[in-house]
Amino acid sequence: MSDAAISTKTSQQLQSGGDGFDTPRHVAIIMDGNGRWAAARGLPRVEGHRRGVEALRKTVRAASELGISVLTIFSFSSENWSRPQSEIRDLLALLRRFIRNDLADLHKSNVHVRVIGEREDLPTDIRALLEEAEDLTKHNDGLMLVVAFNYGARQEIARAARRLALEVLEGRLSADDITPDLLARHLDQPDLPDPDVIIRTSGEQRLSNFLLWQAAYSELVFVPIYWPDFDRAALEGAIAEYRRRERRFGGLIAQTGS
Ligand code: IPE
Ligand code: IPE
Ligand code: MG
Repeated sequence: MSDAAISTKTSQQLQSGGDGFDTPRHVAIIMDGNGRWAAARGLPRVEGHRRGVEALRKTVRAASELGISVLTIFSFSSENWSRPQSEIRDLLALLRRFIRNDLADLHKSNVHVRVIGEREDLPTDIRALLEEAEDLTKHNDGLMLVVAFNYGARQEIARAARRLALEVLEGRLSADDITPDLLARHLDQPDLPDPDVIIRTSGEQRLSNFLLWQAAYSELVFVPIYWPDFDRAALEGAIAEYRRRERRFGGLIAQTGS
């Protein structure tokens, strides 16, 4: 096999989506800038969060229509507990309202909901709602909507390490067998592909403890608008930016001619 053929083959194997680079299979979004959206209008921060829920509805619909398989959204981080109590109360109330109002529609639209993050410390009624959303939609085979709630990537990796340590302790696993693949299989949603692209709104350019393990080769797209202004056109714009990127995964791109 010629060098060119080898490098072409490698490149094809490395493409993650069903149709190569065109449609990302997994899109993850850091929905940021609700507070600044509100402040810019002289409104309370909660109004930004309310409008943020509307942007989320539009985005879920658009993601389904665009043929994306998995949409992961960062809705509350492990570190967001450090916000004022009143804002935390507002955010929890919005999550409750979102699930109560939208779950039936999501189910009707064949959306499969999953949740990542730490559940144990959450209020019991929120835990019940998250479980209800997962349970009701578990057989749906449309868009997979992964809600990152009370989620931190370092915490998720520590959880995986704890699961592995337990298996070693119980004699079911040898420490020598711990590989990146095995660790990945102990994360919160081991069967999902890594995100092809991570979009962050608001202009901030950081991951803020989101999907650190899974982001190893994700394309990062930073969008200079606040989350409440995000919509289908913004999603299409971010995907167009993703398509212009050249993913190499440490290898070489397909060579032609020689
Ligand atoms: C994102 O908007 C929502 C959450 C983090 C829960 P922010 O609330 O972070 O808004 P900014 O970044 O302060 O503008
Ligand atoms: C990240 O946004 C978390 C969510 C979008 C849920 P933050 O607003 O909490 O992140 P920092 O504090 O600007 O890094
Ligand atoms: Mg923010």
